[in-house]
Amino acid sequence: VKTILVTRRLPPSWVVSLEDAGHMVIDGGAEGLGHRQLAALAPEVDAVVSVLTDQVDSDVLEAGAAGRLRVVANIAVGYDNIDIGAAQRLGITVCNTPGVLDGATADIAMFLILACCRLTGDAETALRRGQWHGWDITGFLGRDLEGTRLGLLGLGRIGRAVSRRAEVFGMRVFHHARRPTGTDGYVDSLDELLSVADVLSIHVPLSAQTRGMIAGGELHRMPRGGILVNTARGGIVDEDDLVDALEDGTLAAAGLDVFENEPRPNPRLLGSPHLVLLPHVGSATVETRRRMTELACRGTCEVLAGHRPFNAVV
Ligand code: GLV
Repeated sequence: VKTILVTRRLPPSWVVSLEDAGHMVIDGGAEGLGHRQLAALAPEVDAVVSVLTDQVDSDVLEAGAAGRLRVVANIAVGYDNIDIGAAQRLGITVCNTPGVLDGATADIAMFLILACCRLTGDAETALRRGQWHGWDITGFLGRDLEGTRLGLLGLGRIGRAVSRRAEVFGMRVFHHARRPTGTDGYVDSLDELLSVADVLSIHVPLSAQTRGMIAGGELHRMPRGGILVNTARGGIVDEDDLVDALEDGTLAAAGLDVFENEPRPNPRLLGSPHLVLLPHVGSATVETRRRMTELACRGTCEVLAGHRPFNAVV
């Protein structure tokens, strides 16, 4: 019998496959485990099913490798919370959840694009504060999605799902990726993408290469009065530069679902104008979170059965 640690208690039906496969499951309770507790439990288990707020660093992985830890399955498509280099060195397989959250995340990106183009955050705030003085022919004037140029940074599964949605809205979609995609709308440099992006939406993972990739210089290369949307990872955008760009009109609006420092975003963001904020809910639908959990559990069971799952990243 193998022991699997699920770092926080999840709906039993989502993780039923672990016990169905004959494994013993322990969980980190409703609050989840702190880093110290995770490192203390890692040597006692064969597998860890983690979430993106767990810091699975080299301390945790080395503790696990000193015991019998074989796999960490992250219930997320991003895995920047896991020290992949350490996992590789220690022979621990890491799994993620690609392909099951693309639609939900793309929906939230579209929501932010719509909210920014139509200034719905500012409009709702004014209404709630009693600052609506009646229908106004020049009030809350946003921009049409139809004809607006959308630049996608990254064209993975989520970027493609955003592209399909944006085309239905009549947006003109461009994208840039590390390698030519062979898809219409590809531009071969970030600068070129920025120069055509009325709206820039980020769909790359956080890595050493993408950290801080969108800073003041990049925002200034966009057409003045542009919009930035980030549903990927907060660390890709320089948040202070973003607030500066919103304050001085370089950008007209921005929409963020992710932050460099979660769950306590940079306070400047909270006071910034024309900024629509969501608390990292890109994949937060019942069906999607269930599918993500099931996929992480499946990867876990496959590794424990001696196979290499398709969703292994190392
Ligand atoms: C969510 O942010 C994920 O990476 O799945």
